[in-house]
Amino acid sequence: MIVAGDQPQGLNIAAHAIRDGQLVGLPTETVYGLAADAENPQAVEKIFKAKGRPADHPLIIHVHDRVAASHFASHIPEFAHALMRAFWPGPLTVILHRRASVAEKAAGGHATVGLRCPSHPVAQALLAQLSRVEPGSRVVHGLAAPSANMFGRVSPTKAEHVVADLGSDLVVLDGGDCAVGIESTILDCSREQPVLLRPGVITVTQLEVVCGTPVLTAQESSNVLGAAPKASGTLASHYAPSAKVRLMDSVPMLAALRERVQSGELMPLAVWVRSFDPPAEQGLLVQRMPENPEEAARQLFATLRHFDTLGVKEIWIEPVPSGDAWEGVRDRLVRAAHT
Ligand code: TXA
Ligand code: MG
Repeated sequence: MIVAGDQPQGLNIAAHAIRDGQLVGLPTETVYGLAADAENPQAVEKIFKAKGRPADHPLIIHVHDRVAASHFASHIPEFAHALMRAFWPGPLTVILHRRASVAEKAAGGHATVGLRCPSHPVAQALLAQLSRVEPGSRVVHGLAAPSANMFGRVSPTKAEHVVADLGSDLVVLDGGDCAVGIESTILDCSREQPVLLRPGVITVTQLEVVCGTPVLTAQESSNVLGAAPKASGTLASHYAPSAKVRLMDSVPMLAALRERVQSGELMPLAVWVRSFDPPAEQGLLVQRMPENPEEAARQLFATLRHFDTLGVKEIWIEPVPSGDAWEGVRDRLVRAAHT
């Protein structure tokens, strides 16, 4: 059931469901999440069931502010405080030491916890309502929420995507189209130096300016600090639509397109291209990839889902330009294309 996220009634329905141990589809600025009270293990269990997600894959806990973050985390290093001050509310998840007594199930049993303060006004409003002290109801300090898609699939950026994946019984707060469009940047802050676990729209350069120290890649950190914690968003194959995704440069793509059109094999075929106009042919679906990395991120998952609903067999995509502003989109495309 989709309910309006900008109406008090919709927020009340969602807050009631969360307090009752149910799940709620939650709009955030990155992608929609599938949310439960982070400290209700039975409710959190429902998330793992609904998504078909392995129980040891930790969930991100969404909090209203930095005060709520310290309910879940301890030993917060100064560089992590600086990051939270600079980028919260916003698309940054920090991995910190978990207080032993809280949210074990949501953390997948790990000694650390992923925390994020979303900037979407509907997410903010729900978290504010849940964290208010009211007679007769328990304070909810945080919402555990993975992306609201089936495990390994494309994240949802519209309320309708959530219903398409998880069914219409779920209460989904409608917050419109997600403004960022790809999942948050994840930074491990549980050790001496920050380590990038998942790129997003906040770039390494921006993070380093705030941290005042280099941000290591997972690869670099395993030499310096020992193995980095695993994030499922970092599995080689993830974010995949049903159609097969292939990354191809413009010249070979044009040549292959001509062949495909002539043979008529595996049509309809979809392409997402930036630098050239493919010939208009029947059975060839063409979408332009925006020149701007933020706009491309915003459209990425909706474009893949759109092609899927049209029943295409393959999606051919032109690789993105170099540079760290494109890193988040590049990362998702490479994983979507991995077989
Ligand atoms: O933008 C986002 O982050 C979205 C929205 C809904 O907030 N959420 C999201 O959640 O992408 P999910 O579950 O699809 O991805 C969370 C990632 C996973 O790869 C998980 O392994 C990692 O965060 N993660 C969470 N807690 C962790 C921890 N304690 N240590 C290492 N990785 C962790
Ligand atoms: Mg996900």
